[in-house]
Amino acid sequence: MSAAAIGVPVRRVDGRAKVTGAAHYAADFNQPGQAYAVIVHSAAGAGRIASIDDQEAMKCPGVLAVITHLNAPRLPYKPHKVPPTDPPTGERLHVLQDEQIRFFGQPVAVVVAETLDQAEHAAERLHISYDAEGPVISLADARATTVKPEAGPGTPEDSTRGDAARALASAAYKVDFTYEIARENHTPMEPHAAVAAWEGDHLTLWSKTQFVVAERDEIASIFGVPADHVRVISPFVGGAFGTALRTWPHVPLAVLAARQVGRPVKLVLTRRQMFQETGYRPHSLQRVALGAGEDGRLTSLIHEAVAETSRYEQFVESIISPSAFLYSCPNVATQYRLRPLDVSTPNHMRAPGEASGIFALECAVDELAYALKMDPVELRRHNEPALDESQGKPFSQRALLQCLEEGGRRFGWPGRNPAPRSMRDGRLLLGWGMAACTYPAWQFPASARVRVQADGWVEVETAASDMGPGTYTSLSQIAAETLEVPIERIRVSLGRADFPPAPPHGGSVTMASVGSAVRAACLEARAQMSGASNGQAIETQAVASRPEEIEKQYSLHAFGAVFAEVSVDPDVGIIRVRRLLGVYDVGRVINPRLAHSQCIGGMVGGIGMALMERTVLDERDGRPVNAHMADYLVPVNLDINQLEATFLDQPDPQANPLGVKGLGEIALVGVAPAIANAVFHATGIRVRRLPIRIEDMLQ
Ligand code: MOS
Repeated sequence: MSAAAIGVPVRRVDGRAKVTGAAHYAADFNQPGQAYAVIVHSAAGAGRIASIDDQEAMKCPGVLAVITHLNAPRLPYKPHKVPPTDPPTGERLHVLQDEQIRFFGQPVAVVVAETLDQAEHAAERLHISYDAEGPVISLADARATTVKPEAGPGTPEDSTRGDAARALASAAYKVDFTYEIARENHTPMEPHAAVAAWEGDHLTLWSKTQFVVAERDEIASIFGVPADHVRVISPFVGGAFGTALRTWPHVPLAVLAARQVGRPVKLVLTRRQMFQETGYRPHSLQRVALGAGEDGRLTSLIHEAVAETSRYEQFVESIISPSAFLYSCPNVATQYRLRPLDVSTPNHMRAPGEASGIFALECAVDELAYALKMDPVELRRHNEPALDESQGKPFSQRALLQCLEEGGRRFGWPGRNPAPRSMRDGRLLLGWGMAACTYPAWQFPASARVRVQADGWVEVETAASDMGPGTYTSLSQIAAETLEVPIERIRVSLGRADFPPAPPHGGSVTMASVGSAVRAACLEARAQMSGASNGQAIETQAVASRPEEIEKQYSLHAFGAVFAEVSVDPDVGIIRVRRLLGVYDVGRVINPRLAHSQCIGGMVGGIGMALMERTVLDERDGRPVNAHMADYLVPVNLDINQLEATFLDQPDPQANPLGVKGLGEIALVGVAPAIANAVFHATGIRVRRLPIRIEDMLQ
């Protein structure tokens, strides 16, 4: 019986269910007697609700309830926070609890009716007037209110070693520039949705979430019911990229609506609503200054970042963190600030922090390479650290040099003419650029249950989600390999809060965390099987976590190198990404097919970040004006050419017994700077603001 399953390019075990429609996403669930809710949003960006007239709406056919702050019950909203998925500082938005408007699009009412059409119809007949104030929504307008984020879990701390300012002043070569990244929205294919059904004081909630356990606890604390009275079910997630890490206002609204009308209620956000209240990558400004000696060794590194947050919460991300350890440098200063605005709270978006911070850092390193007249790969080699200098401890495993070498070789980098505007294809300008990337190799405590049935079938249960990376499949592989049974006999069940608890399905932690728990439960089952009689059913449950000593002893990160080829039309400025190659040091690869798929998906996200994605707010009221897929641009098939991801596939024995460092987030990191650097190489135009636009090329 061959059962080696880890490392095999197994096809998705849920592939058939997904393409036949048998896989049910949140909005696919229906309950008998279900009513439909729609959210009415604030048309003002700041101020307060002056009046609500619901008479016309209440008379509309099929209407069951119009719930506003005037008639909504006061909800307990007990303290509940799970950093870093919830911001460590501030208080979440309490829905329909007062008349204050904190951002454009804030829910101000929910209308419940027999059908969706009737609810939408009535919602348009709800008359709300506002005492509106002009919201402050831009980083530029809020300069005076810059704050240092309060220290807390997940908040990157300012760091200094040596004297970066002095070293910069005396550096033989230096660059010192500001980089800007527009606000971006996650725009997964599946919109947020919730179906809520109460039975007495017990609630069942079918909801799109990357974190069923936290959603259960959040809803329990909002409504003041015991957590074990709340069931959260989320078997499939149609993409999320971080937007489903938190419980957003539509979930308590669906739950509240169901309680008020005494029937199950379905609430699905529209695409426009997805831009208003379910998080986004914050608009950021970053100064990066680098100083180097004649030999190309860094002598100074300064990285200062400021980003938007809401007035009611401090969203924080690790935007400056990699700058403290990615390169060897004796003088480093990093600083992170926030500007609270009249906006909804930002949220983690694929490779939160790293994607933004490394864009600035890796563009600056490229600029320094030109200043030094040194090859950018060579410059990075020159500054490879022997250990994590920010913590004074060794990396568990760091193969960045190997990624650079392998990537350079595969891409053909040595054939590059370093001079800008030196490469052409007919009338098109060609450019080659590259960037390094990194992402933390976290492992959080996770648990799993394994049942080996008498008939030889194996059931695996854990509260993790699968938002698309293929968790059902990779966990099946781990169980098959550990138990030495064919993968066809493994059945994995995910996405229920009453399964053994798992950490958020984000931060690239799932394989390291939940994979380790499945492995541990399977090992335990094997041990029991050896002492059991033939055909006896066995059930085991195990918790896995990384020993504290490992965290103390090592700096654990994944690394990679990204190479990009772009063409730029010199007449009309159209930029096309012709080739992207990523080489990744992510530890052991459980499934090369899924890993490749995951990484080229991340690259597509990176192309969006580099060239297209930008949420534009109307400066009068803070309204996201391009809140739909026609005007919020993401790459489509025609924007994508050759994408290749390859893996060193070297297990990291310190990370966990599986040797996985996690992968997913890192695939987006490094793509935007590689493209921006390629655009400079093609055109000689350095664009320090994302997304890079056609207008930027027409200079
Ligand atoms: Mo990822 S932003 O942690 O879902």
